[in-house]
Amino acid sequence: MNNPFRGLLVALLFPVLALAAEPPAASSTSEAKRPPGYAVASAHPLATDAGLEILAQGGNAFDAAVAVSAALAVVEPTGSGLGGGGFWMIHREFDDLDLVVDGREVAPISATGDMYLDRDGEPVAELSRNGPLASGIPGEPAALVHIARVFGELPLAQLLAPAIRLAQDGFPVDEKLAGAIVDHLARFSPAALAVFVPDGSPLKAGDRLVQSDLAQTLRRFAQGGRDAFYGGETGARMLAGVRRDGGIWQQKDLEDYRIVERKPIVFLAGPYRVTVPPLPSAGGIAFQQVFQILGRKHWPPNDPVLARHQMIEAMRRVYRDRAAWLGDPAFVEVPLEKLLSRDYTDALADSIDLARATPSIELESPNETLREGDTTSHLSIIDAEGNRVSATLSINLGFGSGYMAPGTGYFLNNEMDDFSAKPLAPNAYGLIGTKANVIAPHKRMLSSMTPLMIEGPDGVAVLGTPGGSRIISMTLLASLAYIYGYAPQDIVKLGRYHHQFVPDTVVYEPGAFSQAEIDGLRKLGHQLSESARYYGNMQIVVWDRKARTLSAVSDPRGIGAGRVVMQAPPNTQAGGQGRMIAADRQAN
Ligand code: DON
Repeated sequence: MNNPFRGLLVALLFPVLALAAEPPAASSTSEAKRPPGYAVASAHPLATDAGLEILAQGGNAFDAAVAVSAALAVVEPTGSGLGGGGFWMIHREFDDLDLVVDGREVAPISATGDMYLDRDGEPVAELSRNGPLASGIPGEPAALVHIARVFGELPLAQLLAPAIRLAQDGFPVDEKLAGAIVDHLARFSPAALAVFVPDGSPLKAGDRLVQSDLAQTLRRFAQGGRDAFYGGETGARMLAGVRRDGGIWQQKDLEDYRIVERKPIVFLAGPYRVTVPPLPSAGGIAFQQVFQILGRKHWPPNDPVLARHQMIEAMRRVYRDRAAWLGDPAFVEVPLEKLLSRDYTDALADSIDLARATPSIELESPNETLREGDTTSHLSIIDAEGNRVSATLSINLGFGSGYMAPGTGYFLNNEMDDFSAKPLAPNAYGLIGTKANVIAPHKRMLSSMTPLMIEGPDGVAVLGTPGGSRIISMTLLASLAYIYGYAPQDIVKLGRYHHQFVPDTVVYEPGAFSQAEIDGLRKLGHQLSESARYYGNMQIVVWDRKARTLSAVSDPRGIGAGRVVMQAPPNTQAGGQGRMIAADRQAN
């Protein structure tokens, strides 16, 4: 079969993943101290352009990240927006600062552990997925203000200008957005229908989408900052709508929302320094665990079936731990030290039987007592100073809760579904959880979003993707491919596969496995299920210090664009900093 995402045989081509700690090569062996320009990859070409516009105006990567996030909120309303949240991983070059701006939503003050259960104590999916009862308190606006104020160089109003223009003047609806509108319109509130289904017929590909209310909201936000979103006209409209239409937010919820600056999880894999998000993202912990498990196994073995088997078994085990232990660290005691210790991950590695799949029920289960869409978004940026941002943004399912408070112009998230409505009851992604992830006021719901960076002897990769529970397995496979020398345009094409402990099934993209691999894995006892469609939407930017190149690549599964602008080195410029000498475009 001629399949664009055919799995490449990582296993046969590259040396063993040696995880013994070696000194990080990082900047010490750098051939070039600064990137030869700047690069942006995001889920939409117009959002990528917004970032480039800001960089051309002298903004840094952080300014550009604010501009791209805000533009994505306009041009990709299925995936993220002002009514949602996300994690913005930041690397500031001059002082080598790495941190995560956690703009994850929180549960409202009036939330209760049983708020999505019926009289028989069973979860009612409708309640945690549709309408404003499903919405956590949005974090993206607070995060954008924080990033602009603390890390950016340009005024917020300048950073939001491209988004405001896109909302006000409109832009052509793409095929994906048109399809998503049709798929989701039954969930839309009247204010959303007025925008996306004007005169009763859904916008079609090529139609112009003008979002006047959103443009006004963004203007107020640009002028008034945080208070003009969580308060003022926008806050009042949002609150009135939510309360009238079945939500439980209070004024205080909006006043109380705070972002959290968090230290990322950083670990070494041979000469590679991997920087991944901490809780309430489950991604970082899972990453470090998988790397340690595979390192113990001297992965990859010389046999592709065995390599895939080991990867699947590692995924099974770390997703089990996700379900059993992980939740907002401000609310639950998470045995991080144990989960990340070599002793523990060695034991997990040793429990992998090379001759057969371990049925999930044979593993010690969480003792208490897993769909995917055109949703969530990612952006990756490197500026000419070497500053970087990897950010995954979300309103959870397509168009979030489907609810738009009248007069605001943005969808509210349905991130509350990322909590465990009830221990061991699967959420929209089939993920299960325990006490660690039950609902409590102000608590952040556990996330799979894993924006990350990998620094190695030859350079740096900044990457991430949407995809619900599969985010972690996708970013893992991509990270290993980077470490094993794959070019970014090949990394995004890799066939994807996934196991999340429950259900006990390996999901794989069409063509990700060869027939021999399918047969081999079945023989080992794996249940395989070919995914009905390709999934994920990876955005990757790579600075190759040795080759002095920058690349920005957007997943061919999506409509995004990666673009690079090359600049002359400062000492050869006649006209001062940042003169553009070439523009290179890599779009998919
Ligand atoms: O935070 C999470 O894990 C989810 N809300 C992300 C949702 C997502 O990636 C949807 N993508 N297809």
